[in-house]
Amino acid sequence: MYRVDVITLFPQIFDGYLSQSLLAKAIANGLVELCVHNLRDWSVDLKHHKIDDRPYGGGPGMLICVEPVIRCVEAVQAMGSIPGQVILLTPQGEQLRQQRVENLAQSNRLILLCGRYEGFDQRVTDILQPLELSIGDYVLNGGEVAAMVLVDATVRMIPGVLGDEQSSWDDSFSRGNRLLEFPQYTRPPEFRGYTVPDVLLSGNHQEIAKWRQQQSLAKTELRRNDLFDKNIGFPTKE
Ligand code: ADE
Repeated sequence: MYRVDVITLFPQIFDGYLSQSLLAKAIANGLVELCVHNLRDWSVDLKHHKIDDRPYGGGPGMLICVEPVIRCVEAVQAMGSIPGQVILLTPQGEQLRQQRVENLAQSNRLILLCGRYEGFDQRVTDILQPLELSIGDYVLNGGEVAAMVLVDATVRMIPGVLGDEQSSWDDSFSRGNRLLEFPQYTRPPEFRGYTVPDVLLSGNHQEIAKWRQQQSLAKTELRRNDLFDKNIGFPTKE
């Protein structure tokens, strides 16, 4: 069983995602367990459950205090049978790529820390030494959406989560595959004058495979020249 703990100030954000996605199926099938924890529950301020404060030295916004975070992570660690890898979602982190996702899918337990406001007290990272991950060079209002991206990408790489018919093998970026996907078509063969390429209707599997590979290469060269350069000797499925 793969376990993910999410620590957030807005646990409700995860409700819809949890009940609708592929993740819901993985949870129902007993492959994944996802537990969402409200950081406020570990506040040291029993009256107002405050977890943030103004930065020393001045500046705008509020910082999440070190004590509730450490208390929360320690309590959450104790809830599982194996220690979780602590990950902090932050725009300052390593940019998330498929290789990292596949590596995390093998880890068995993750603890995701979602930030809000201007961030955490520096001692959170000093003490926990989390893996800091960013989902891209833009600033979100908090780490929650980034955590969902990470969970979504990771869970589908856990064995048994995707059915055979939905294999992740051909995905762009997967298992060393750094080519973008070739175009796909389904019925009807013609719509408003837009037709399906003849080769796909030919039944010639060798020709189809060749066409798809050419399409992938051409698209990758056009759109992602950075990936294309790394594709000398790329792996193929067979
Ligand atoms: N929190 C705010 N912005 C983020 C980003 N780009 N990636 C991960 N966490 C974030």
